[in-house]
Amino acid sequence: MSRIILIGFMGSGKTTLGKQLAKQMTLPFVDSDQLIEKIEGMPVSEIFEKHGETYFREREKEILLSIEEISDMVLSVGGGLPCQEDRMELLNKLGTTIYLRLMPEILFQRLENEREKRPLLKDVDLLQFIVQKLEEREVYYNKAQIILDVEDQTVDGVLKSLEILQKS
Ligand code: S3P
Repeated sequence: MSRIILIGFMGSGKTTLGKQLAKQMTLPFVDSDQLIEKIEGMPVSEIFEKHGETYFREREKEILLSIEEISDMVLSVGGGLPCQEDRMELLNKLGTTIYLRLMPEILFQRLENEREKRPLLKDVDLLQFIVQKLEEREVYYNKAQIILDVEDQTVDGVLKSLEILQKS
């Protein structure tokens, strides 16, 4: 079984790297947000607007449970998914979790022009929000089996870390 699960804050590049990795490993790529959007028939921002965050988090949980049936894939999950209840424990059971770690300043640069796609970023002081949320969320993200800093966030970097993990 080969399930690689990418986690990290919004803007950390999970989807981009996930797609590249899936291609390289010839595995299917699954993105939790895209799956929810498909099932609900509307973008994440609209789901938040119409049904609220609690509803969205419930959909995320359902996605994870349905994924147990697919044995090989690269999965990228929304930034808030690992930070609910016991989701990190569940993710660690489902596959090899990889946290893409970036400094708040880099996340800020990446997210500055992407706010309307992300409902949580709409009316906030962006840098302050990132610093505070990241601090709260790292308690969860740090439970990942592999933590990658910027310089290792390439397909080669991930493959090397997976190899090291398998040997240990
Ligand atoms: C969220 C991250 C988003 C999306 C939703 C909530 C979060 O996914 O799931 O807007 O709580 O951090 P990305 O991390 O792919 O942007």
